[in-house]
Amino acid sequence: MKIGILTGGGDCPGLNGTLRAVVRRSARYGHEVNGIIDGWKGLLEERYMPLTVEGTSGILSIGGTIIGSSRTNPLREAGNKEKLVRHFKKTGFDALVAIGGEDTLGVASKLHQEEGIPLIGVPKTIDNDLSATDFTFGFDTAVNVAMESVDRLQTTTASHHRVMVVEVMGRYAGWIAFYCGVISSADVTLVPEKPFDMDDVLRYVKSAYLRKHYAMVVVAEGVKFPETHAEVWKDVRLDEFGHAILGGVGDVLARWIEKESGIQARSVTLGHTLRGGSPTAFDRMLATRFGVAAADLVDHRDWGKMVALKGNTIVSVPLAEAVATLKTVPPELFEVAETFFG
Ligand code: F6P
Repeated sequence: MKIGILTGGGDCPGLNGTLRAVVRRSARYGHEVNGIIDGWKGLLEERYMPLTVEGTSGILSIGGTIIGSSRTNPLREAGNKEKLVRHFKKTGFDALVAIGGEDTLGVASKLHQEEGIPLIGVPKTIDNDLSATDFTFGFDTAVNVAMESVDRLQTTTASHHRVMVVEVMGRYAGWIAFYCGVISSADVTLVPEKPFDMDDVLRYVKSAYLRKHYAMVVVAEGVKFPETHAEVWKDVRLDEFGHAILGGVGDVLARWIEKESGIQARSVTLGHTLRGGSPTAFDRMLATRFGVAAADLVDHRDWGKMVALKGNTIVSVPLAEAVATLKTVPPELFEVAETFFG
């Protein structure tokens, strides 16, 4: 078989591990693998590169993706869907493996359902917001980077007796903020799932400050302000999938806390730092297991499926189901973070 593989949407550590695993497992079956460069954009523009066992050696520990990624939405313009199908057939691909989050896999699901493209999905995203899998790779690395950053910020914040507001990515899911808040002993954590009250935030900050003479706040980029019911956007433009480009809430919050409490406040936005660098042990393992399972599904011609983690088992679920709903932090789990507020 000739397999095409692409990585789409925001990159994350672990993508190279999946590419390597698909290539190695497929080689055992006698299948060849070709990378489609820069996600769906590469299929539109017919840009490919061969992925060999030699060429994918030594990449498991490297972040990013050797075949590139993009946020190109190939279905935005009329006629593009037909173009994708044409190019898929012209190249002689027998299968397509799409590694992505809700946007990339949403396109994959449509191409499979509407055009019959033989497709397998692999979930990835630092946001961990895909409902059909317990974890996506990239998330654990992002959380570890956030934890290390907050640990470093604690010491300087304590020395200067300040309030530090740390903003993390995650779009409309608070997974990164929730994990980071708990494991970095934040004095208050704000997530999009739980509307917050400004007076409560101030109360928690002041009480932590009384106790230890500094305070740490972790905030998810996607939280909505109580008065405006809106997030803070970094840009007025939307991306090709219609998503707002979020960022800046940490700054706004720090200024407000300083004004209301009289305590000096600073903010740090961790942003894309969370997506960079070498994957953790957990992400290397998950990315590898997903890659091996995806290659198996291809060989078994079990199309329209996405590999997923349930407990500690790799399973396959229908692609359509995988992109149907967003996985958010449940209130009862968030109570773990709330226990330590103030
Ligand atoms: O979906 C992953 C993610 O990192 C989000 O957490 C964030 O909001 C977004 O991508 C940023 O996207 P971009 O890399 O296009 O700025």
